[in-house]
Order: sequence, then C-alpha cells, then structure tokens
Amino acid sequence: MNTLFEVNTLDLTLERFPCSNDENLQAWDSADQYVLEHIEQLADKPNNILIINDTFGALVCGLAQYDITAQSDSYIAKQAYFYNIERNNLTSSYQYINQLHQVTTPPDLVVLKLPKSNTMLIEQLTQLANVIAPSTTVIGLAKAKDIRTSTLALFEKYLGTTTTSLAKKKSRLIFCQPQADKLNKNLTTQIKKWSINKPALSISNLPGVFANTSLDIGAQLMIENIPQNIGYASVIDLGCGNGVLGLAAAAMNPDAQVTFSDESFMAVESARLNVGNNIEQPQRCDFMWNDCLTDIEFDSVDWIICNPPFHQLQTITDHIAWQMFNDAYRVLKRGGTLRIVGNRHLGYHIKLQRIFDNCTTVASNGKFVILEAVRR
Ligand SMILES: C[S@@+](CC[C@H](N)C(=O)[O-])C[C@H]1O[C@@H](n2cnc3c(N)ncnc32)[C@H](O)[C@@H]1O
Repeated sequence: MNTLFEVNTLDLTLERFPCSNDENLQAWDSADQYVLEHIEQLADKPNNILIINDTFGALVCGLAQYDITAQSDSYIAKQAYFYNIERNNLTSSYQYINQLHQVTTPPDLVVLKLPKSNTMLIEQLTQLANVIAPSTTVIGLAKAKDIRTSTLALFEKYLGTTTTSLAKKKSRLIFCQPQADKLNKNLTTQIKKWSINKPALSISNLPGVFANTSLDIGAQLMIENIPQNIGYASVIDLGCGNGVLGLAAAAMNPDAQVTFSDESFMAVESARLNVGNNIEQPQRCDFMWNDCLTDIEFDSVDWIICNPPFHQLQTITDHIAWQMFNDAYRVLKRGGTLRIVGNRHLGYHIKLQRIFDNCTTVASNGKFVILEAVRR
C-alpha cells in the first residue's frame, strides 16, 4: 500500500484501516488532494472547519493546522483519524463527533466528502442547514462521476447557490454559498420504514443504513434459517445494519441475549430504535459501535449471525468478511456457531473451512447460501 501522501507543504504518512497490503489501495484519493490544494490557496483563510465523511484522515491530517471538527458515521474512519494524527505527530485542536451529534456554532468552512447514499447526503445537508450561517462556505468533493445534476440540485435545495470546479485527476469540487432564505432550521432526520410478517417486525432505518427501503434478499433467506430453540444463549448480530437478523433471533428465541454490532453509528442507532419498537424485553439486547468484534472477550459467545459486507466504501473487498470470520472464531465459545449468509459466488465456504476446519451448508437458493461453522 502506498502510504506517502504529499500535499501542499506536507509529507504525510497515511494508513488505511484496516491496513492493507494491496498496492492499489491508499488512504486518500484525488478529491482529497484537490480540496486541500484549493484551501491552501484561499486568500481568506477559515478559522474553524467542519469536515464531514473524511475516509481515513487525509483531510483531518491535511487541515490539522486549523481548528477542526470531524464528523463521520464510521467507527473505522474514527479510528483511522486518531491513528493517522498520532502517526504524523500532528498537534491539532481536533474534535470528533458522530453522525447524530450536531455542532452548535457555525463553522467558517464545511468540507463535505460526498457519502455513498443520497439519503445520507440529504441528512447531512439538513443537519448543516440547521447550523451554518450564510457566511459559511461549503465545499463538496468527490469523484467527478459521482457528482450528478441531482447531487448539485440537493445542495441548491437545502443550502443555496451551487457551482462546480473543473475536473482534475477525475475529481471535482462543489462550491456552495448558503442563502439565508433556503436554510430551513426545522427539518429533522428522515426515517424510512418497512415491515416483514414472519416474524412480525416493523423496521425503521436512519439515513445511510443498509437495506433502507426493503429487506435484503440475502437477509430474507437468513431469516428463514435463524437459529431456534437456543434457550438462554448469547447471540451477536455482527454487521447488524438495522438489526433485522438479531431482531428475528430475539423474536424467535424469547430467552436469548442479543447484541447488535456495526461499524456504522446510524446502523447501531437504527437497531436500538427497532429493539425498542419490536422487542418486549429490550433489556435482553445490547448495542456495540465497533470494528467487527474488536475487544470482545475470547470464548464468550454462543451464536454469531452475519450477513457480511463485500465492499468498503467504493472498493469491492473480502477483507472485512475475513476479519469478521476470524473475530467470530476468537469470540465464540467451544461448541459455539457462526451462521452466515452469502452470495454463492463469494466462496465463503473456503474461508470458513480454513478458519474453523469445518463448514456445513444449512440452506441455499439460486443466489445465496447459508453456511455454518462450529468452533471446536
Ligand atoms: C450486508 S450489510 C448487512 C446488514 C444487516 N445485517 C442485514 O442483513 O440487513 C453489512 C453490514 O456490515 C456493516 N459493516 C461493514 N464493515 C464493518 C465492520 N468492519 N465491522 C462491523 N460492521 C461492519 C455495514 O455497516 C452493514 O451494516
């Protein structure tokens, strides 16, 4: 992995999280470089900057000489900011806030890296409308292909006058100057809802959470194969999203203790909301914002259920699935079981066989397979 990021007068050493040996992966992109060079050239320098959705800390480190607040939904991003700031010996008056925590004073400059989903972009623009002043400058950044007319229309609708830069190394910047008459201070987070019948669950989704508008088809097969008659067992819904798998496990096993874990803050908060709305004894459930199963005690859990992600940001990768399966092996009790759903072509059985030395097919359909591995 290339770790040397040269920008303006800085030579930064930046790591992706988790660290990768893939030479094609690095912790920054050309949009990060573009915006940092642009800010360096501003005649009127900002005092304080709000950075939203920085991926691994390239922006946080590149702007460390300012008074910065970094907001992100991702636990992994948060870890990367701390790590990369320390690694580069940057003394910064840096503050981290999660996705539902709003700043209270209007920043001079907002640097917003476009999130993956439009629902998250709308959430972030409405949050900004609540806090920024017409004097705040907002700069968006992304790969040019991800900046569509509809993206610019959202900046116009929620904030104000919007233009774009020329493309440079396939990235572009969005320049937005808020207008007082557009900054609606009364908008709140939009929650999307859907339900399933078996078991009966009504699911609420905060913006940006996986399967925002309907049940994922892989998750559907997993729900048909949720472990049953497990008594007082402990269960972790690993990569819980809105928590639909863990909710099904809790609904079908009224004595089980269920932990919902995800690296997305909005996902964990959606799962918490859904437990409150669906589970009669919510004290059986707890919640963890975490990278896979980091710091969970060895040999401590009976069941882990999981619908693993197969990409990180825009990169298709199996390293998170690997990390999840390895963490599951470490955390499961002897005799404990990992049950997963995966697209057939992903070949998860090879990984499970290698880590657990066993793997059984529990169910399958044309597209998905449910696999199970027992820690012996
Ligand atoms: C395919 S979705 C499954 C969501 C939900 N379980 C379902 O079936 O609808 C994968 C989930 O894994 C989460 N995730 C990705 N990387 C993670 C990591 N390193 N640690 C924990 N969760 C992670 C994502 O945020 C996402 O919610």
